[in-house]
Amino acid sequence: MASALYTLAVKASKKAHAPYSKFHVGVAIETKDGRVFSGCNIENASYPEGWCAETTAISHMIMDGGGTIAQMAVYCGEMDKITPCGGCRQRISEFGNVDTIIHLCDKNGIVESVNMGELLPRAFNF
Ligand code: THU
Repeated sequence: MASALYTLAVKASKKAHAPYSKFHVGVAIETKDGRVFSGCNIENASYPEGWCAETTAISHMIMDGGGTIAQMAVYCGEMDKITPCGGCRQRISEFGNVDTIIHLCDKNGIVESVNMGELLPRAFNF
């Protein structure tokens, strides 16, 4: 359920390790078969070594056996209506499809819901 994903994404954002950007991002995924995973961004003093909340959440899904992403909520406490970065769009695309729904969230809740076809048109894929 979308509202449950929102709550989980907010909770995940509180775990972010973001001492450099101070952007605390949380993501929650629901797979097509109903499993739910979350993740936060994890930064590093060597800046390029950090990674996004989407990546953490996807890694949890993979470690539970993988799956197809049906919907995802993305939240950042310091930004209105955050959207996944370009690299994460490609990562989401790897484990989703054009119908995968991305809920763009902020302190007001789910502000807009878009699908991957809109977020990453003409995605590269084998
Ligand atoms: N970030 C995410 O976690 N997800 C996104 O989709 C956009 C950016 C993180 C990466 C970095 O830790 C911080 O936000 C600022 O770019």
